[in-house]
Amino acid sequence: MVNYRIENNVAVLSLNVSDQPMNVLNDESIAALSEALEKAYADEQAKGIIITSERPEFIAGADLKMILRNNGKDPAELLKLSTVLNTIFRIMETNGKPVVAAINGTALGGGFEVCLACHHRIALNTPKSVIGLPEVTIGLLPGGGGTQRLPRIIGMEIAAPLLLEGKKVAPKEALNLGIVDELSDSQEDLMSKAFAWIESNPQAIQPWDEIDKKTGKIKARENFKVPGGNVLTPKGMQLMMGGTAMTLAKTKGNYPAPIEILSCVYEGLLVNIDRGLLIEARHFVKVANSSVAKNLIRIMFFGLNEVNKGLSRPKSVPKTEVRKLGILGAGLMGAGIAFVAASAGIEVILKDVTTENAEKGKSYSKKLLAKAVERGKMDAGKAEAVLGLIKTTTEASDLKDADLIIEAVFENRELKALVTKEAEPFLSESGVFASNTSTIPITELGKASNDPSRFIGIHFFSPVDKMQLVEIIKSAETSDYTLAMAMDFVRKIRKTPIVVNDSRGFYTSRVFGTYTSEGLELLKEGVSPVLIENVAKSIGFPVGPLAVSDEVGIDLAYRISGLAVKEGVLPETDTTYQISRLFTEKGRLGKKSGSGFYEYPQLGTETEMKKHLWTGLAELFPLKSEQPEIDEIGKRLLYRQVLETVKCMEEGVLQSNLDADLGSIFAWGFPAYLGGTLSFIDTVGIKNFVSECERLAGIYGERFRATAKLKAMAESGLGFYD
Ligand code: NAI
Repeated sequence: MVNYRIENNVAVLSLNVSDQPMNVLNDESIAALSEALEKAYADEQAKGIIITSERPEFIAGADLKMILRNNGKDPAELLKLSTVLNTIFRIMETNGKPVVAAINGTALGGGFEVCLACHHRIALNTPKSVIGLPEVTIGLLPGGGGTQRLPRIIGMEIAAPLLLEGKKVAPKEALNLGIVDELSDSQEDLMSKAFAWIESNPQAIQPWDEIDKKTGKIKARENFKVPGGNVLTPKGMQLMMGGTAMTLAKTKGNYPAPIEILSCVYEGLLVNIDRGLLIEARHFVKVANSSVAKNLIRIMFFGLNEVNKGLSRPKSVPKTEVRKLGILGAGLMGAGIAFVAASAGIEVILKDVTTENAEKGKSYSKKLLAKAVERGKMDAGKAEAVLGLIKTTTEASDLKDADLIIEAVFENRELKALVTKEAEPFLSESGVFASNTSTIPITELGKASNDPSRFIGIHFFSPVDKMQLVEIIKSAETSDYTLAMAMDFVRKIRKTPIVVNDSRGFYTSRVFGTYTSEGLELLKEGVSPVLIENVAKSIGFPVGPLAVSDEVGIDLAYRISGLAVKEGVLPETDTTYQISRLFTEKGRLGKKSGSGFYEYPQLGTETEMKKHLWTGLAELFPLKSEQPEIDEIGKRLLYRQVLETVKCMEEGVLQSNLDADLGSIFAWGFPAYLGGTLSFIDTVGIKNFVSECERLAGIYGERFRATAKLKAMAESGLGFYD
């Protein structure tokens, strides 16, 4: 696990955690590293120590399974994790022999904390390597001294974004920031620089340590001067206060890790490093034991990896590849799909009814590519090559031999049937036809196809280049091959696919609809619209239910609910139907018409900044004298979505918990700290969830009633992930 060799009178410790897909710090590798270090301290031949790796990465981080295993259990186990690392690192710093990190690849989290505890850091400048402390992004904080050493090395100001945002940087930027000391261009150069440094620094000591005059041993320095000033300087105080205010504004207090990181820095820099490390360990236990860390690690780290690996992909189908993609309709969605596909190296035929429309669609890619070049994210040659992959046309025959055709024409059944019939004959022999419809059942659209087994829904979200999720919708007839092909395509364009069965509104629109609809129920009852919107945002939704209704278009809600009323799925008294009809009739269609629940006085300019709630709401929905508690409003908004997701599971619309959870987080911004709609149940506990549903149903109606299956689950006490 750690290979030990003596070279040039230096002990070279080379990590290879071969039973893991990547070098990680787990119980075994930590023990092996500690053992190898002890050997090197005692080895008379070793004048110094180099820590490096035999794999392409240095160390990708701590094995998060260790954290999950102990989450919610005995905090002493989590404390032990931090203590073990801190003990190893402090001995490394104070043993008297110089230790150099030869960072041959990615060094993240605990992996980078190993480097920070080394006396000198040299990074190999490879294009794929990243360096940083991303713990905060999964609800944690660096528990191996990261919050203490980083600000002591580069000062609080530069350390703050790295710690609070979990920014990962390339080796070159790491050098500029001062978190590595040297760069090297080749493996040989890396090692020879490491040997040379040890040669010229036989008695290395960390800046926060000193030699005890009495004992001659290295110990923590009491009055260490942090670069750029300590927390008690005016600048330091300003930084801490500003940082706390900004963090609270951003996280609304829902994510504890960034605030705990600030506490680590604040409290830790006032004392010596040994005491600072104890402070950090205490805060680490707090966050590592939280439900937020559990949800983020389980869903946003492991879950996302699993879904991206193709959790729901039929295993029997060999890997497929889309080389030529046809897109029908070069509007908002078609243009976006063309951009992401061409960016992934796929040839795109973008078809619209006029050359002008098709060219306009292509110009969207041109704009995005120019921006990427301007920001230095892409070189001009590559941008040109990407743009060159998009060919515009008005002729269906240009789609010849397309492996996949996606239609993104207007949301109109007859038109969609027409374009399907027109384009399908040009598909390659094994080609697949997909619809990007947002509302029309795939089974119905598939009827226009010659071969409904090769027809599928590939539902993108707007803006396509920014939205990570794609909802793939199977009809009863969609074949395994077609599903596999759609999933392979989505992965190729680097998006996350969830797979659902056909249903009204599929999964995402159906559950998202309950968020806006509960917002309207609250409004109708006389709850202050300001309160509704602010509560939604404070529990972590990016946009309140009224603002998001305006964004999507109130006329669309009217059209969809109207259809449901016509088909007897919803009663005519349905609140969303009633309110959306009223607003549509008034011409208040939302943002696009300049008025909806909000007023947009300067449409086309900085509308977001200028919008304000429509004063007419007060007349239409008079405020009730007693406003509900904030908690109650939040619960109503959350529980509706969660219950609808449960129904999607029970009806077989959804097939996996992870699809449900990731879909909710990425499609409409269900708060990630809650782990998504199903994890929410496990987070509050299934028994509590069901009894809360019953209470809410008693007050507000049957829409809050728990399903029979859910009640049975509560009896057994087992949640969705147990
Ligand atoms: P859009 O109105 O921006 O674009 C539609 C394009 O289709 C227009 O350029 C039109 O000229 C073209 N078109 C019409 N007939 C055609 C034909 N026979 N052949 C080729 N092109 C034709 O519409 P948008 O917003 O891009 O929506 C397209 C589809 O995507 C709709 O089904 C919509 O429901 C769905 N969708 C829309 C989302 C959104 O946020 N706008 C999100 C997800 C899906």
